[in-house]
Amino acid sequence: MENVNSYLSIRNLNKYFGKFLALDDVSIDISPGEFVCFLGPSGCGKTTLLRCIAGLEVQSSGTIIQNSEIISDLPTSQRDFGIVFQSYALFPNLSCFHNIAYGLENLGWEKQDVTKRVDELLSLVGLSDHSAKYPSQLSGGEQQRIALARAIATSPNLLLLDEPLSALDAKVRVHLRQELKNFHRRLGLTTVMVTHDQEEALSIADRIFVMDSGKIMQSGTPEDIYANSSNPFVANFIGMTNFIEGQVLDEDSIKVDNQQIAINSHSYKKGTKVIIAARPEYVQLAEKNSSNTFVGRVVDVEFLGSFLRIHLETSIMPDQPLIADKPMIDNFSKSVAIGDNLNFTLSPNHLNVYECDN
Ligand SMILES: Nc1ncnc2c1ncn2[C@@H]1O[C@H](COP(=O)(O)OP(=O)(O)OP(=O)(O)O)[C@@H](O)[C@H]1O
Ligand SMILES: [Mg+2]
Repeated sequence: MENVNSYLSIRNLNKYFGKFLALDDVSIDISPGEFVCFLGPSGCGKTTLLRCIAGLEVQSSGTIIQNSEIISDLPTSQRDFGIVFQSYALFPNLSCFHNIAYGLENLGWEKQDVTKRVDELLSLVGLSDHSAKYPSQLSGGEQQRIALARAIATSPNLLLLDEPLSALDAKVRVHLRQELKNFHRRLGLTTVMVTHDQEEALSIADRIFVMDSGKIMQSGTPEDIYANSSNPFVANFIGMTNFIEGQVLDEDSIKVDNQQIAINSHSYKKGTKVIIAARPEYVQLAEKNSSNTFVGRVVDVEFLGSFLRIHLETSIMPDQPLIADKPMIDNFSKSVAIGDNLNFTLSPNHLNVYECDN
């Protein structure tokens, strides 16, 4: 049941380390030219999945198909990919030139062809002047660019990236993320990147696979996963969310505390315990007399540059403050102070409802 538009298909992949199940029945399809991210918390199996695709780890069961060929039983050397690891893993005793040339020389390329190709790659990653330098003479960001050039030197059809940016400081990371995106736009190489950084995944990926405990929890475009998270884990992992506990009253309302939230809840039976998820940017302040308006007391205000993060103590969320984000451009934001009582509105169009597990 291979998907015809798929460049890389993974079918029912399981991976045990001893008795520990690191990958639990993973099935995914990646289209040609797509940039996908495996996103999830530490230990959820992202690297293991990437290493199975590369043949650096052997699956316990399941199949991997690349470009219509079953590759899951092929040795690494017979698979078609380039890889960049989290730790740069450049050869410290080789210059940038020779780090990039390494794979080409192994393939028996003629010297002048190697030189031409390496020069082309150095120019592609913007490091032509650094050809003779050794890895220790480069910044972290430069080392990762050389690692990227090395990974694509032999023109693989699949690029695998394991947290390629995570060792870099925040500014360089954001810059290189943009470069990686441009790079992908130019080359159109099918790319799989592992990250535990949700912002990175949201900003760079065509499609995200959110993982937890060896399972794919949800896949979709960044926008889709953010707006329509399929469960509280995903909603919480992708961006910030307020979770409000309630109980279904009828088709159009949920009881929270002693109040009601008007919301379409028709897919749940009366009495069902649910969690309502509200993103901080959709908590509207200072709108009185509309439905779904509640009151909260400001207990903290964080200034985060372009917006203000307001923490509200409210009876509909007794365990922790409700978070509301307000752009600084709203004049209103400048006057918020701790101790203020504020009205806030939860717009039904921007709420998600999940059934409680317990
Ligand atoms: N060679 C191994 N032997 C035993 N257990 C392993 C081995 N490799 C990984 N594991 C376990 O499998 C699980 C998944 O590991 P993996 O490296 O895939 O996680 P990850 O999602 O990449 O995490 P991180 O974000 O920390 O890199 C972890 O619990 C890890 O301890
Ligand atoms: Mg990892």
